[in-house]
Amino acid sequence: MPGLPCSTCHQSANSPTTAGPNAPPGAPNWHLAPKEMVWVDVSARDACLRLRDPGSNGGKDLAQLRHHFAEDKLVAWGWQPGGGRSTPPLTQAQTVAAVEAWIDAGAPCPAG
Ligand code: HEC
Repeated sequence: MPGLPCSTCHQSANSPTTAGPNAPPGAPNWHLAPKEMVWVDVSARDACLRLRDPGSNGGKDLAQLRHHFAEDKLVAWGWQPGGGRSTPPLTQAQTVAAVEAWIDAGAPCPAG
């Protein structure tokens, strides 16, 4: 809703299941990702370039990016979204392993 901070409705944890499947989900520091992280109609190369660039990824270097996937409670919420919400195809552990392998390889991006 325009003008209302997210935390008006989204608390630091999911609503209790007794509140129903459409009650607001929650996690610490609830907020949107930077607009550059909206990857609709974005090539794999461009998504990769934006992800590794601190200028577009929220100011994170590669170590902070790893921490973001592995430790950030708002990111972890994606695997425990509450209600009837779907979860990503990989587990968080599999995602972190893939991110670490990518970082260890020098964070390469596919050719455009
Ligand atoms: C006026 C209350 C309200 C505000 C303000 C609000 N939300 Fe929500 N949000 C909700 C409710 C209620 C749901 C659950 C809707 C449902 O499950 O049908 C929801 C769901 C969501 C979801 C889960 C969507 C999904 O896939 O099911 C996300 C992500 C989200 N909000 C992000 C945000 C962000 C980021 C902000 C601030 C920019 C925000 N919301 C502000 C009420 C709010």
